[in-house]
Amino acid sequence: MSTIPKISTAPIIKARSKITTRSFQNKKQRGEPITMLTAYDYPTSLILDRSGIDSILVGDSLGMVVLGYENTLRVTMEDMLHHCRAVARGAVYALLIGDMPFMSYQVSVEEAVRNAGRFLQEGSMDAIKLEGGQERSEAIRAIVTTGIPVMGHLGLTPQSVHQLGGFRAQGKTAAAAKQLYQDALLLQESGCFSLVLESVPERLADLISNRLDIPTIGIGAGSGCDGQVLVTHDLLGFFDRFTPRFVKKYTDFSAIMGESVSGYISEVESGVFPSTEHSIDMPDEEWELLIGQIGS
Ligand code: KIV
Repeated sequence: MSTIPKISTAPIIKARSKITTRSFQNKKQRGEPITMLTAYDYPTSLILDRSGIDSILVGDSLGMVVLGYENTLRVTMEDMLHHCRAVARGAVYALLIGDMPFMSYQVSVEEAVRNAGRFLQEGSMDAIKLEGGQERSEAIRAIVTTGIPVMGHLGLTPQSVHQLGGFRAQGKTAAAAKQLYQDALLLQESGCFSLVLESVPERLADLISNRLDIPTIGIGAGSGCDGQVLVTHDLLGFFDRFTPRFVKKYTDFSAIMGESVSGYISEVESGVFPSTEHSIDMPDEEWELLIGQIGS
């Protein structure tokens, strides 16, 4: 009988407590960096959670790194909820944050609250994230009042890519930096439990992080933030259409996958795979019985 190969397991860490928005606050107070990565599927979520990540963001970066769109604008609520559910099935401890897609919170406060609620009810998320500053404060207040934790997102906000004139760093002039600083204060006042700062100068992110009581999570914002987030496909080298300057690649997953796939193709073509080890046996007497009935 052939044996079923054991599936290799991700590093198992000791059981830990469920991370909550309060854990985020406690970590900031203790000066402990908060770790966050994106996931869009069950196996990735399982590995991140087992590895000890504090938080998993089901980002709308899904649109680019998984669905192959040019930007994040075409991602829908249904896309997001589908992937949120998969991620939720894989994670036990990490704080799960669902990213509200373009046009799910901009039209009206009522729609924003309704769609935010769907992330918790239908997507099994613990919190939501949305992009924007003062123009979003009313929606944020209403969502928070409903009991849903909100993470803000300032700086390079990809859903405004056309308005920003491309994926470019923000807050580089005194005027832009002041606006960003004021937006950060307003998001905190509106009830956000945390704030992503994307592609902003390190010294500005540092200043904002020091002035805010809520933790900041940086991506391309230097080391002064209270935590860091990256798109997992970027750090794995699994998305090679382009890599932002602020990304550190920890491996070259595209190359590893390419080598494995080439190996498979050549072994199938040369008849090396499948071997007996990967084939299913049948008892001789059953085989003889069959041949006796249908002929060889
Ligand atoms: O969609 C996303 O992955 C994000 C992170 C880059 C913060 O918003």
